[in-house]
Amino acid sequence: MNILVTGGAGFIGSHSVVELQKVGFTSIILDNFSNSDIKVLDGLEKIMGEKVKYYQANINDASVWDKIFTEQKIDGIIHFAANKAVGESVEKPLKYYRNNVAATVLMIEKMIEHGVNNLVFSSSCTVYGQPEALPVTEDSPVQPATSPYGNSKQICEEIIRDTVQSTNDLHAISLRYFNPIGAHESCLIGELPLGTPANLVPFLTQSVAGIRGQLSVYGNDYDTPDGTAVRDYIHVVDLAKAHVSALNLLLKQPEGRYYDFFNIGTGKGSSVLEVITAFEEATGLKVDYAIKPRREGDVVAVYADCTKSKQILGWQTEKTLKDALGDAWNWQETIAP
Ligand code: WQD
Repeated sequence: MNILVTGGAGFIGSHSVVELQKVGFTSIILDNFSNSDIKVLDGLEKIMGEKVKYYQANINDASVWDKIFTEQKIDGIIHFAANKAVGESVEKPLKYYRNNVAATVLMIEKMIEHGVNNLVFSSSCTVYGQPEALPVTEDSPVQPATSPYGNSKQICEEIIRDTVQSTNDLHAISLRYFNPIGAHESCLIGELPLGTPANLVPFLTQSVAGIRGQLSVYGNDYDTPDGTAVRDYIHVVDLAKAHVSALNLLLKQPEGRYYDFFNIGTGKGSSVLEVITAFEEATGLKVDYAIKPRREGDVVAVYADCTKSKQILGWQTEKTLKDALGDAWNWQETIAP
């Protein structure tokens, strides 16, 4: 079966392409390489032992969808392609609504037109904002978005849900990721943040590698055990496997309407200082950091209850925080020795 992976040259997309091949799916990548490097395809070929078919094109271009759906028999889509920088989304909201929302509408219209009826959507725990209760379940209320990025994810979930309800035969799942970190054990693919990383782990590894200065820990006066903010850091390979589980669940559905959404995390919260300690234990290296003021827009704590994913998707994490941090460091050493 052929799976179209939009954003398949990206961090989570590329790791998902590897996991899809392991269970017999053939991936076709659609990526404009605006936030990824075409050299990722070389890494994928080395890991997978075969070239991955790809289209270098924009998801906003209607002719691209007609071309792909005419040239290829597509059995399902995993939709990663989107802009994801929270800060940038505040400065350039229309870029995010065009690339994350309008493009998703176009994709679904083309899916229906061409009879492609299985969709896994890349959503985010950001839809929960600051949950009232932790761990957060899928029944936890979706909070008003605190950024156009987060809003784009909420809007897309609703668009997909509503379209499923109005279409005779469409199956879709939204996966609400927590914080993806780490890299493939081969060190042939991993996270490639463009410019200065906004996220904790890539900045941490670049700081330890001497590419960046001292790591800033944004706030230690939160109402958490050690005062630093808490997140659910999930190994990107575990996250990739969740997409395979979601796809398999969709492909099992009878003709008709199916929509659901799932938390994809470890179920464990880790503070920034705990991540630093875990990194030092995993690598034997010291992290040079300083406590700085809180970062605007950060939530205090968010981590997942993954009971529903375990029970219905048949998926759960296998790797630990230390596994992910060790893999992240090995990857960092590979790309910038
Ligand atoms: C984690 C913690 C920071 C950098 C973001 C997006 C979210 C999702 C994952 C896409 C926070 C602290 C960070 C640093 C630090 N992306 N931190 N020093 O903000 O939880 O989530 O990435 O779906 O949508 O919002 O991840 O890694 O930026 O921050 O202290 O240099 O690390 O304050 O507490 P975040 P993050």
